[in-house]
Amino acid sequence: MAVGLWLVGARGSLATTVTTGLSLLSQHAASSHGLVSELPVFGDVELPGYDEIVVGGHDVVDVSLRKRAESLVSGGVLPQTALALTDSTLGEADGRIRFGIGDGENARQSITRVQRDLEEFRQANNLETVIVVNVSSTEAVVEPHLAHDSLQALDVALDAGEAVLPPSSLYAYAALDAGFPFVDFTPSLGASIAALDQLARARRVAYAGRDGKTGETLLKAVLAPMFVQRNLRVTSWAGLNLLGGGDGRSLAEDDRKSAKLTSKARSLREGLGYEVDAPVGIEYVEDMNEWKTAWNQVRFQGFLGTPMTLQLTWQGCDSALAAPLVIDLVRFVALAQRSGEVGALDALAFFFKDPLGGDEHGLVRQFDRLTEWATALEPLT
Ligand SMILES: NC(=O)c1ccc[n+]([C@@H]2O[C@H](COP(=O)([O-])OP(=O)(O)OC[C@H]3O[C@@H](n4cnc5c(N)ncnc54)[C@H](O)[C@@H]3O)[C@@H](O)[C@H]2O)c1
Repeated sequence: MAVGLWLVGARGSLATTVTTGLSLLSQHAASSHGLVSELPVFGDVELPGYDEIVVGGHDVVDVSLRKRAESLVSGGVLPQTALALTDSTLGEADGRIRFGIGDGENARQSITRVQRDLEEFRQANNLETVIVVNVSSTEAVVEPHLAHDSLQALDVALDAGEAVLPPSSLYAYAALDAGFPFVDFTPSLGASIAALDQLARARRVAYAGRDGKTGETLLKAVLAPMFVQRNLRVTSWAGLNLLGGGDGRSLAEDDRKSAKLTSKARSLREGLGYEVDAPVGIEYVEDMNEWKTAWNQVRFQGFLGTPMTLQLTWQGCDSALAAPLVIDLVRFVALAQRSGEVGALDALAFFFKDPLGGDEHGLVRQFDRLTEWATALEPLT
């Protein structure tokens, strides 16, 4: 039976790359580079095939997927051949996108509306489950609220019409409450509060997040343990990220930028095991379009206190780095759901900057945990 992939932010660069990529993979018209789930170690794991994943979603803009795909082709993200090969799939997916949660809508009504959309999608496509993945614009940081600490308090606040949750958490609530897994690929609040963990456990459903680890933080997750294991003392780790695209435009706003900076900082602190001066800058450069440059300067001390410096430059295409991870996550979360896993999936920490449910930040150990977990899972019959 097929599984549904419900993309929140379905018309964005990342979502369009996922939808186009799935279609090309189903037609054996694209290489599987970048897909972790294609590694031989997962060869015997029962993951859904690319042609068994049906895409739908929410967005708050109405530009067609075809138009988004055209601009990704002209930006060099998607191959020229993609448009002709995916025209009908993009048209079908377009027809399954519903209007998302906008400003000023009553929270309970939004949740009910999202749940209705998810259930219609499931029934219309005869899906075993629907995995909701948040790939919408990063939200501004949300201050902690007492209602976030328990499901009971949250329900009271929502019933009273209080605006205590941002859209990412309303989508998470709607999905988990309906028994559908939720994955947050962004640094937004999403399912990362105790109240929603309680909801997931009560409904016996899994969730994962947050903030996909695709570029600079991926490098930090590899390099930080190296400095630790060689007993080299890092004295500062400065980074500058230049990016274009919709993500770059929204991160140019200070309150959204600080959500991203918080999740980047946490992973370095955990990886090194001590606080270090680690300023990170994010600048929007419109001309860079879908591409990103990250420059890092790591100053460290070796034997006898000798000071040394590592500098690196990473130039990546954000959506091409992130899209295979979204597809991997859908496949692994489908397996988790079939196997009766409940709550935060710490075994998926490998994919996230700020992993929920676990505190392992070294990439090698995260990968070992993922492989042990996935190869041991037994789908329930
Ligand atoms: N690409 C990467 O490497 C990467 C890595 C980690 C995290 N992310 C995160 O993934 C997200 C998507 O990135 P992108 O490059 O596709 O951005 P994008 O700006 O191209 O797309 C975001 C989409 O979300 C939609 N949206 C905004 N508010 C919404 C709402 N309330 N409901 C439904 N849809 C809504 C927008 O209309 C837009 O279509 C960002 O939050 C980004 O930080 C991306």
